Amino acid sequence: MTQPLAYSLAPPTADAAALGLPGDPSSRQMLERTIRVDHAGEYGAAHIYAGQLAVLGRGPKGDILRHMQAQERVHLDTFAGLIATRRVRPTALLPLWRLAGLTLGAVTAALGTRAAMACTVAVEEAIDEHYQQQALALPESEAPLRDTIERFRAEELEHRDIGLENEAELAPGYRLMSAVIKAGCKAAIHISERV
Ligand SMILES: [Fe+2]
Ligand SMILES: [Fe+2]
Repeated sequence: MTQPLAYSLAPPTADAAALGLPGDPSSRQMLERTIRVDHAGEYGAAHIYAGQLAVLGRGPKGDILRHMQAQERVHLDTFAGLIATRRVRPTALLPLWRLAGLTLGAVTAALGTRAAMACTVAVEEAIDEHYQQQALALPESEAPLRDTIERFRAEELEHRDIGLENEAELAPGYRLMSAVIKAGCKAAIHISERV
């Protein structure tokens, strides 16, 4: 007796993005956006710490900042590797994110260690949300990338906690500064996915 062919005629869709509506980005586009924006974000993050270290590197928080910068370096190198191996065009705005990162880091550090930590908390909260959304959106075929993002997300949350432990919330104008930096991060994410 032969088996019905119904199932083999309708193979399961491997990629949830393939079910999207016309006009939605394709799964390849989604992957490119993911890698492009994460590379841009980690590039910016590494420069924020470079800016902070230029001001506070010799101070009592220098080692904490160097610890976080070292982790950002690994994040950046990983996404730089993915840009190459997955053949993704990097954002055209890297020079802008370099300047913005250095400036944000140096200016917040010049306001004091609490302001520098407040900057870290705001950035990492925005990145946490961003990485969480990405991890949920990636298809099963990209499980290794999703695991990488989850691992980095855990380290970004560690950075946030370090900021909170170091009195970020006591920085002058904390709420306003936090809101402005988070809005900037979200705008940067939106632009870097596309440009
Ligand atoms: Fe990072
Ligand atoms: Fe981070």
